[in-house]
Amino acid sequence: MKVLMINGSPHQFGCTYTALQAVSDVLRTEDIIPEIVWVGDKPLQDCLQCQACIKLGKCIFENDVVNELIEKSKLADGFIFGAPVYYAHPGGRVLSVLDRVFYAGSKHLQYKPGAAVVSARRAGTTAALDVLNKYFTMNKMPVVSSHYWNGVHGRTPEEARKDAEGVQTLKILGRNMAWMLKSMNFARQNGLTEPSDVAKHNTNFIR
Ligand SMILES: Cc1cc2nc3c(=O)[nH]c(=O)nc-3n(C[C@H](O)[C@H](O)[C@H](O)COP(=O)(O)O)c2cc1C
Repeated sequence: MKVLMINGSPHQFGCTYTALQAVSDVLRTEDIIPEIVWVGDKPLQDCLQCQACIKLGKCIFENDVVNELIEKSKLADGFIFGAPVYYAHPGGRVLSVLDRVFYAGSKHLQYKPGAAVVSARRAGTTAALDVLNKYFTMNKMPVVSSHYWNGVHGRTPEEARKDAEGVQTLKILGRNMAWMLKSMNFARQNGLTEPSDVAKHNTNFIR
């Protein structure tokens, strides 16, 4: 089984990567294959709601990681979204990526477990986690938790690694993600399938 991780920081090997690495180390010991995809440090397109993806099944903008992530989502069994905290929200890069991944490819993520992790120098972690968790909870994705809110504190990877409680929280998250994936796989092998989709009411409040 595979877990697709998104490093939503402009720093390829910064604190967010360090947090994701703590989770991926544990996943590997549980025979789960983690893959960290970095969103890069070039300008990122945000979603224009052009609706082209509805016909294309992918985002119309091809020059960044979004369509690669949609393709990888098809083969992934679980997801971890990582982001640095900027002004008490997830840095905008990851939001631009996730808006487009979910608008164009949400069906490839649904019914698969997800978790968010954040890194911050000092504050804003829980507010940032709330934002990221909302992608899972509007897409039928079970949210995996730990024994505290998933995050590390630090401005450098060295500082983040010294956050013993934060690192432990992420290790427990990795263990719980593995447990969730194995439980779901066991259920599938024993004939318990996902709930069937129902046609969605799509009202604009008044109609
Ligand atoms: C624009 C900006 C805003 C930030 N806002 C916050 C903040 O609200 N709270 C905080 O604790 N750290 C804040 N930071 C610090 C980063 O969250 C922190 O250094 C983080 O660990 C960087 O992760 P990275 O190395 O993966 O990029 C901010 C950094 C930047 C560049």
